[in-house]
Amino acid sequence: MDPKSFIESNKDRLLKELFELLRIPSISADPAYNEDVAKCATAIQGHMSTLGLENVEVFQTRGHPIVYGECIVDPSLPTVLVYGHYDVQPADPHELWDTDPFEPVIKKTEIHPEGAIFARGACDDKGQMFMHLKAFEILKANGDAPCNIKFMIEGEEEVGSINLEPFIKEHKEKLACDVILISDTGMIANDVPSITTGLRGLSYVEVEVTGPNRDLHSGLYGGAVANPLNILAQMIGSLHDKNGAITVEGFYDGVEIVSDEGRALMAKAPFSQEAFNDSIAIPSGQGEKGYTTPERTSIRPTLDVNGMWGGYIGEGAKTVIPSKAYAKISMRLVPGQDPDDITEKFTQHFKAIAPNSVSVKITPHHGGLPYVTHTSDPAYQSASKAYKTTFGVPALPVRSGGSIPIVALFEQVLGAKSILMGFGLDSDAIHSPNEHYGVFNYFKGIETIPYFYKYYAQK
Ligand code: BES
Ligand code: MN
Ligand code: MN
Repeated sequence: MDPKSFIESNKDRLLKELFELLRIPSISADPAYNEDVAKCATAIQGHMSTLGLENVEVFQTRGHPIVYGECIVDPSLPTVLVYGHYDVQPADPHELWDTDPFEPVIKKTEIHPEGAIFARGACDDKGQMFMHLKAFEILKANGDAPCNIKFMIEGEEEVGSINLEPFIKEHKEKLACDVILISDTGMIANDVPSITTGLRGLSYVEVEVTGPNRDLHSGLYGGAVANPLNILAQMIGSLHDKNGAITVEGFYDGVEIVSDEGRALMAKAPFSQEAFNDSIAIPSGQGEKGYTTPERTSIRPTLDVNGMWGGYIGEGAKTVIPSKAYAKISMRLVPGQDPDDITEKFTQHFKAIAPNSVSVKITPHHGGLPYVTHTSDPAYQSASKAYKTTFGVPALPVRSGGSIPIVALFEQVLGAKSILMGFGLDSDAIHSPNEHYGVFNYFKGIETIPYFYKYYAQK
């Protein structure tokens, strides 16, 4: 049976099975949900076993478990390793959800006239990860897989995949493959399919600026002591120049410059600045001078404050000069930049610009290397053919602004490239309240993936 007919006759069940996974609040960041994370791993193990995968196993780690299963049809055929994650971001702020984040419902939206599944993890990444298990079910229903397939689904992607790195190093042989297949990114639009050819890296730091040894009365002391919040704001303000470029010493050293041809190719992908502005209710875009919005969010590195706090943030007014000020800062990196090196450069720079009146402490968090893949790769070509088959139009190669730090490590440790067949849309609100995933996208993914295997096995 062709994938389309299979989906048509199994629609309700395909949705019901995903809904069951979405009901499990597998939030990796919050230890209060550890049992749910484990329960989700067990549920995926159950699916793998039911599908007839072999050597299905839940590997315990120092953190959350990794679920593995494989189908080896013939060792002389190529092997695809499917990677995905079953953990999700916390759902807060809860009050901004229109429906319960862990009770999926289908609702129509302007972009998803056929309905979208609203739930935390619907798009990132349970919905997309589960498409792969269901695509495998189609292969099985048609006899067998055209090549060897291994599945590795982890539970710590949203917290930096800290335990996956030692796992892949320890199980190199088990995970040996020719290519890695991942659906954890997006595409341009439902009628403009695209394949992700790049991911940005990440350096993430927390800064603590200390002034006086205790909070002080802002009348008695104000004007005569350094206010760490004022100073932190000034320091942060100085991290970009008037052209929107980052001032951290050496930040752009080695940054790979995309050629004019490359930029011209990027400009061919449909993009409307107006629609972009409208979609997030901003009057205008902004950023590094000389670059377009799609360039700013893909081929250029960035620095952003993700949170900043200190002093009195409760109800009403309390007149106080805080002793400490804090900020969390993320830097998205592009090829040519190394997260450890950037963290070091940031640390040097931030300490250098701090006035003597305060002390600065910097704590690095998890980071990751950027990643690019090439359209000439035979696996990319197979993916491209698959999209052409199911969408009727060719997929455009697009570099994404997001990060999946483990992808660069896969290349280093397993020596295999990753193909990023993402079916989400930027407007799907991943990590935000009311995250959703189009029903069209879910079924289109299930339909497209089997063709990838078919073409890849023929190559
Ligand atoms: N799936 C996302 C990354 C993504 C989304 C890439 C859309 C491209 C398009 C992933 O789950 C994620 O959220 N990654 C984090 C990094 C991680 C270290 C927490 C990110 O990009 O912020
Ligand atoms: Mn993800
Ligand atoms: Mn995510």
